[in-house]
Amino acid sequence: MSSFRTPRGYVVAGVAAAVLLTGCGSDSLGGDTGADDAAGVAGGPVDIGLLVPTSGVYAPLGEDMEQGFRLFLDQNDGKLGGREANIHVVDEGESPDTGVPGAQRLVQQQVDAVVGIVNSGTALGVRDLFEESQIPLIIANAGADAITGERKSDYVWRTSFSNGAVAAPLGTYVAENCESAFLVAADYAAGKEATAAFEKTFTAAGGNVAGSVYPPFGTTTNYQPFLAQITQSGADCVYTFFAGAEAVAFTKQYRELGVTAALYSSGFLTEGGVLTAAGEAAVGVETSLHYSDQLDNERNTEFVEAYQAAYDEAPTVYAVQAYDAAQALDQALADGAETGAEIVDGLQGIDTIDSPRGEFGFDDGHGPDQTYYLRKVESKDGGLINTVVQELDAS
Ligand code: PHB
Repeated sequence: MSSFRTPRGYVVAGVAAAVLLTGCGSDSLGGDTGADDAAGVAGGPVDIGLLVPTSGVYAPLGEDMEQGFRLFLDQNDGKLGGREANIHVVDEGESPDTGVPGAQRLVQQQVDAVVGIVNSGTALGVRDLFEESQIPLIIANAGADAITGERKSDYVWRTSFSNGAVAAPLGTYVAENCESAFLVAADYAAGKEATAAFEKTFTAAGGNVAGSVYPPFGTTTNYQPFLAQITQSGADCVYTFFAGAEAVAFTKQYRELGVTAALYSSGFLTEGGVLTAAGEAAVGVETSLHYSDQLDNERNTEFVEAYQAAYDEAPTVYAVQAYDAAQALDQALADGAETGAEIVDGLQGIDTIDSPRGEFGFDDGHGPDQTYYLRKVESKDGGLINTVVQELDAS
């Protein structure tokens, strides 16, 4: 059975040449051309591109996403919507420089849908590609606000969050305990959007921003100069956005340099392997997020157990977002959808996704309508956990 359909006659400008030049067009993705594929037989296998980082500072996030996606398949006989699912993993890398060509390869190879994308810049960079090629994209992490806002597309869906939606309710909460905040975040779309949303609600609730700084993304390993600015500002608290390897380095150096301001963040600072690597330095950090493996609901308990059994570690928000992308595709493909437009119709018809984070539906921008939680890092049984403290007020 083929992995790929007969090309739909769509040509991605500049992509064919790029694929030939790099030799990517002749890898295993393009080798399988069964006759039933060309005929588009309903119920035949479905080809899904998994575009996740397997290199760069966000590589651990990509691993979690792949694990989450594959867990759903393992639980469902390797099928989505009753159809055998062929998964084609392509490295997103760290930035749009690698992520956009990765998406172009998958589109060129005519997968039925693509899932993944960690980096907001990559999501923004590929949005038009998916709209024009009419191949559905389910973003399972990248939070770029515009993707489910002013640049929403019929073909682009998201099972994760928007950067502003995670940060905004935290700003309101932090203002209850902190008069003056310093903002520090990775210098790219996600860090900028998160700090902007935090600043908006924090100042609206009476807080004052003492200063802000944006360390270069992907290359900063020494945060000392930026941490010195925080101390000099005299701020009572800090709001930050970092993830992956950057989150570990930032949190450890924050403690090593003895910064005393209370540390608040979007929850990526303390997820999974990052939390383990940061260790004691992360204790007491308060974050906002739409998931914690500590969430007390039946679906999550069963999910955590299954994930733990499969991978010998606790799931992260990245794993859940990808698991839910698989659940969304499962529903969208269930009625025999074949073309991109039919898959989109299937996505449109979804009422709720039974997620470990709690049930959610898609809003008008195709992003999840969900609850955000305040979490606090605590020690438990010799390890560290993100205790769920309360729901955050999103208004
Ligand atoms: C993003 O670029 O939108 C992004 C990256 C890593 C995260 C969260 C958001 O953990």
